[in-house]
Parts: sequence; structure tokens; C-alpha cells
Amino acid sequence: MCGIVGYIGKEQVAPILLEGLSRLEYRGYDSAGVAVYSEKEGGLVVKKTKGRLQVLSDVLQGGAALDGTVGIGHTRWATHGAPSDVNSHPQVSRSGRIAVVHNGIIENYVELKAFLIDKGVPFVSETDTEVVAQLVEYFYKGDILQAVYESLHLIEGAYALGILCADAPDQLIAVRKDNPMILGYGDGFNFMASDVTAVIKYTRDVVYMDNGELAILTRDGIQCYNSMMQPVEKEISRVDWEIDAAEKGGYEHFMFKEIMEQPDALRHAIFPRIRDGEVFFENFGLDEDYIRRMDKIYIVACGSSYHVGMVGKYNIERLLRRPVEVALASEFRYMDPILTDHTLVIVISQSGETLDSMAALREAKRLGATVLSIVNVVGSSIARESDVVLYTWAGPEIAVATTKAYSTQLAVLDLLALHFARVLGTIELGEYRATLDEFLLLPGKLETVLADRDQVQYLASQYFNHSSVFFIGRNLDYAMGLEGSLKLKEISYIHSEAYASGELKHGTISLIEDGTLVFALGTCGRLFEKAMSNVVEVKARGADVLAVTTESRREAMARTADAVMTIPDTCDMLLPSLGIAHLQLFAYYVALMRGCDIDKPRNLAKSVTVE
Ligand code: G6P
Repeated sequence: MCGIVGYIGKEQVAPILLEGLSRLEYRGYDSAGVAVYSEKEGGLVVKKTKGRLQVLSDVLQGGAALDGTVGIGHTRWATHGAPSDVNSHPQVSRSGRIAVVHNGIIENYVELKAFLIDKGVPFVSETDTEVVAQLVEYFYKGDILQAVYESLHLIEGAYALGILCADAPDQLIAVRKDNPMILGYGDGFNFMASDVTAVIKYTRDVVYMDNGELAILTRDGIQCYNSMMQPVEKEISRVDWEIDAAEKGGYEHFMFKEIMEQPDALRHAIFPRIRDGEVFFENFGLDEDYIRRMDKIYIVACGSSYHVGMVGKYNIERLLRRPVEVALASEFRYMDPILTDHTLVIVISQSGETLDSMAALREAKRLGATVLSIVNVVGSSIARESDVVLYTWAGPEIAVATTKAYSTQLAVLDLLALHFARVLGTIELGEYRATLDEFLLLPGKLETVLADRDQVQYLASQYFNHSSVFFIGRNLDYAMGLEGSLKLKEISYIHSEAYASGELKHGTISLIEDGTLVFALGTCGRLFEKAMSNVVEVKARGADVLAVTTESRREAMARTADAVMTIPDTCDMLLPSLGIAHLQLFAYYVALMRGCDIDKPRNLAKSVTVE
């Protein structure tokens, strides 16, 4: 939610900032801006525009219109104040000397603004960020770092900040609290950014700033300080993926590329974790004693990651005979959850930065639980604050609507369930080994599902103009439907709902009429007859039914449904990992036919760092 990039070096900065921002646009894209120190002007030049980054880039002629070698840039997802030129970042102090870009929320901005207005400071925007720029100037007596430091004592909330002062054009200041900030180390240049994708073209050597830290970037180096302004030495990490991973590589959309990357992403997530017929987690921090004492599992997450938890609940409870609760992170933190020392809280997050999930993690730890996280972004806040981390190794995911992160989260959670079951002795060795064999076959089976995409594209062409869609299923199929429904509404803006099929008759069936589109999910063998009964019920009321089932049940399903998409047969727990591909593809093709902006759907952002 909001992307920050800052550069100090010898090259012209504006094109570098625009390039960096283009890689961060997934974080927000309702406006963008840059501030550059120009020697010619003898001060800061700030350009910002409402709309996509392209609007700014056009105004700046791709960066050629601005002269300077140090600057900060921002792409915004509006929180305080509607998207507009004036509310865009950078926000500048009244004298124009201090420019600030911000990701997060200043919670006490109303009081701080009142305090500054009382001192005669005029405000021009509705943003909380302008308060930071004005406050820093209020404290500024010639030492910008000192002014920032003093300001931070008064500021409450979550923030990653990039600060440029016209009086100190040979440095940039970066600050981090509860929102991500990385530092990129180069030869004669240095970067700050919300995410490594913005700097990977220039350097692979990065530092993940910790909470409360400040950093001063010059052309020759970076000095970090802790919240007491004591210098700290940071460990430099080397990013091990290639720039191509964050590029479209010939695909029209990141979302489609990421859907198609899922088999490989699963190989990365699964294969190193199966050794000699056993689940193997490297440096796993939960010993067998802990697992045996575990009384309950809570899975806490948001959005699609929460849907992974819904699938996980069915799988873990069946395998472990231990209670599993799945909670939305935004609810968990205020629901006074019942946790003991023996409760394991599993936090699932692609970005590792989702504020609600982060807050839930801290609440769980405060209440004494052990926290295991399943995270994609290496070095992210959730990964670092958890007791145990399992990375999904899906590579960078750029499309706002998640696909490969969902699949890999699910695979890792399923592997974890199997591991626990093995330790607890709640699974027969034969079933355990057979399930692991199925895990190894999963990427290949998913490839065959994706290869059938022409059929899904055809079905999308028949139904893309529907205004309401229902996804129905039981058990794992219901959990999968939740994600299918979210994918469709996120990117195509079609109203859709996922229902546990058995619940339809308690109200929702009244909405089914001639031509209503219903996705009937019937992959679970033991519940197939029940699924069929529900298909018959909705058909009898005029629905058009598109079904997803296994190859072995295609014929039975085809007797009633209007069209059937199939997946290869596999063990129960992996059925959603295959079935979801049809639903992702359907959402994608429908959005394509409706002319939607697939990678950047309206009002959404990929990394949600506000409450
Ligand atoms: C946003 C994204 C979703 C994602 C959710 C949780 O809403 O658009 O795709 O599932 O955040 O994000 P996380 O990074 O915690 O998985």
C-alpha cells in the first residue's frame, strides 16, 4: 500500500525513480510523484499527478524533464484525502525545503496538525503525510537528521518514510516503523525502497531495515541508527532471484504469467521439503514435544491467505483430530482469542507486511502462543517476528490478485499438516507415503489442468456478461469456492458469492432463477452424491451450471451440468490445489473479455499496510 523509492548517486535520478516506481505500482496506483534536488534551480523540484504512473511519466517525458542525481518517488493508494495532485506525495514543508514520501498512517495526525496550525503553519493537502513534512520543518534548525529524530518522538502510527532536504542534497533519510523499507547498496549510489523489486535492476545487495531504525544514505555509503540514534551495523543480504521474475516476459498480464508459473512455484515449495519419504523442513523450530503438546491451532490471515486457511482447517482437522480455528486477522486482534502456551498460531501472508496480520501476530505472541508463519516475501516483517517461518518460495508476485502465492501457501500448509500427523501418529504410514507421492505429482497434474485452458476461455466467453455468480460446494470444495469467488469479484467486478451447498436451501436459493450462473464444485469423492443433489436443485430452478470435478466423475456430472471442467484424480487434501486453477483462469478470462485492468483492479492494492 503505497510504494517508496529513493536514489542518490551519479546518474540522472528521475528515470531511475520512474523505473523503480513502475515495479512498485502493485502497492497502489491512484497517483504518483517525485521530488528531485536540482542544482540549476538551487532547490527541490516536485512533480506529482493524480492517476497512474504513466501520467507522471508523460509529464516528466520519461524523466528527461527533470535534472538531478538525488530524489525520492512515491506511488499512492489513498488513505487520507482523495486521489488528487495536491494529496499525492511527496508532501513538502511550507518553505518547500523538505520533501517527504510516506507509506502507512500517522494515527495522531489530527492533533499534530492542530498543534502546527496553532503555531501558524499553513496546510495545503488533506493528507496525514503533510504533517510529517511540516513537523520536521518545525524542528529544523539546520540539522535535518536531528529534526527528523525529534519529530519521530511525537509521531504515532505506522510509517516508512523517505525524506529529502534541499539544504542537505548529498543525503537521503529513510525511516521505518511497521511498514517495509529496504536499503539497496551500490557502487557510488544507494537506494531506499519499499521492496527489492524496485532496486534489483541496479543491485542485489540489500538490507532489511528493522522497526524504529533510521538510515542516512549518501553516494558513498549508508549509516543505520536504532531508535536511540545509536549507530547499528546491518547484515547485507543478497537477493537470489533474477529481474525476469518480476517482468511480464511476453505475457499480456502478470496475473496470467503467475497462473502459468504455478507448477514451477509448487516444485520450489514442495520438492526440497520431501526427503527420503518424509516431510523435511530445514531449521524447523517446532520440536516433536511441542507438536505433541499442541492443544489447538489458530490460522490467521486476510484475503486469499485466509482462504488457504479455510482449506487447511478441513485438512488439518481430518488428519490431526485437533481443533483448528480460522480467523480473519482484522477480527482476531479484537476478539480476545482464547490461546494457551500450547496453541500454535499460523499466520499466512504473501507479502509478510499486511498490517492486520502483523497486529494479529503480535497479539498472539503477547498472549503466549507460538507463531509459525507461511510467507512469500523473504525478510518481511511477519517472517522476522514469527517464532518459526516457512517460506513459500513462489518468487515475486506482482498481480494484485494472488494466484501462485495462494497455491504455494496451500502446499506448504498441507505439508505441515502431514508432518504434524506423522509426529502425532494420526496417519497410517501407507497413507502418509501415498500422500507424499501425490505431492510430488501435483505440479505435473496442475500442468495438465492449465493446458486445458481453452475450454475455460470458451466458457468465459459465454458467461462474461453475467452480473452475479454463485460458487457452491461442500467441505474442501466450499473452501476452494471462497477463493474462486474472490478472484472473480476482485478483477472482473462481477458480484459473486461462495456458499456451502447445504446452506443454499436456507435462503440463498431464492436468488436462483432462469440463467443464474452457478459454479458447482464437486471434486470431493466422498461428497460427490451430495454435490450432485445440489446441482439438480439449482438446475431445477433455471440455473446455468458450470461444474468442476475429477476425471473419474466427469460423466456423472455431465448428465446434469451444462459444462464440466475436470482435474486429474488425486488424494482428497490436494483436490483444491488442482481445482482452483480452473477458477483462476475463469476469473482471468472473464476480466479480459470485460476489458478490466487485470493486474491493477480498481480500489485494491497488493500489500495492505493500513488497518
Ligand atoms: C490484499 C491482496 C490479496 C491478499 C491479501 C492478504 O487484499 O489483494 O490478494 O490475499 O491482501 O495479503 P497477504 O500479503 O497478507 O497474503
